[in-house]
Amino acid sequence: MELKKQISPSLMCADFLNLGDELKKLEDGGIEYLHIDIMDGVFVQNYTLGTDFIKKLHKATKIPLDIHLMITNPETKLDWFEICEGDYVAVHYEACTHLQAVLQTIKRKGGKTMLALNPGTPLCVLEEVLPDLDAVLVMTVNPGFAGQKLIPQTLDKITRCRKLLDDAGYPGIEIECDGNVSFENARKMSDAGANIFVAGTSSLYAKDGSLEDNIAKMRDAIK
Ligand code: DX5
Ligand code: ZN
Repeated sequence: MELKKQISPSLMCADFLNLGDELKKLEDGGIEYLHIDIMDGVFVQNYTLGTDFIKKLHKATKIPLDIHLMITNPETKLDWFEICEGDYVAVHYEACTHLQAVLQTIKRKGGKTMLALNPGTPLCVLEEVLPDLDAVLVMTVNPGFAGQKLIPQTLDKITRCRKLLDDAGYPGIEIECDGNVSFENARKMSDAGANIFVAGTSSLYAKDGSLEDNIAKMRDAIK
């Protein structure tokens, strides 16, 4: 089953003083999702975007959000986040005590479920929640900061993840990759079986190249 290849720009890397203009360019470029990193300074050592930003984005654009919650105990905080139809909500396996219940709550709120795995977390943890999943987020760096280097073994992890999902009878579960998704790495990730690509400082928001050109380059890399 060929899943649609989609780009999810990492808005923590955007030019905030120019965001309206950038959003227009992302819409014109047919961008499928907007990746929103939420960090709590505990699960990861950083703070980034927040709940009000999500509300404002929902008003400003029709592009669905891809909300990446890097927070502890998301089950106690899901109500803080506005979830609209079509939005993905990713929670980390490492942060959830009652994982299956959290995934059910996301669905009940109208979101699509994505389970994020840190590079050190094995794929076998997916097995018992496959019926509850719309996507798996394979972290290709340790989460927390933009501008890191790809952890090489995560490429093979994407290949094994795709096989695990297909063999278990879930060819429709999508695979997103996040971290150092450069044009070159995106091609390899795409070949390995990923179909949603979080594009940050390594590609769309690289110092050289316009947003329009970089979107075109990314489309070419993942086709
Ligand atoms: C963390 C973020 C980062 C980053 C991706 O979850 O999503 O991984 O913005 O962009 P790069 O790695 O290209 O800076
Ligand atoms: Zn992210």
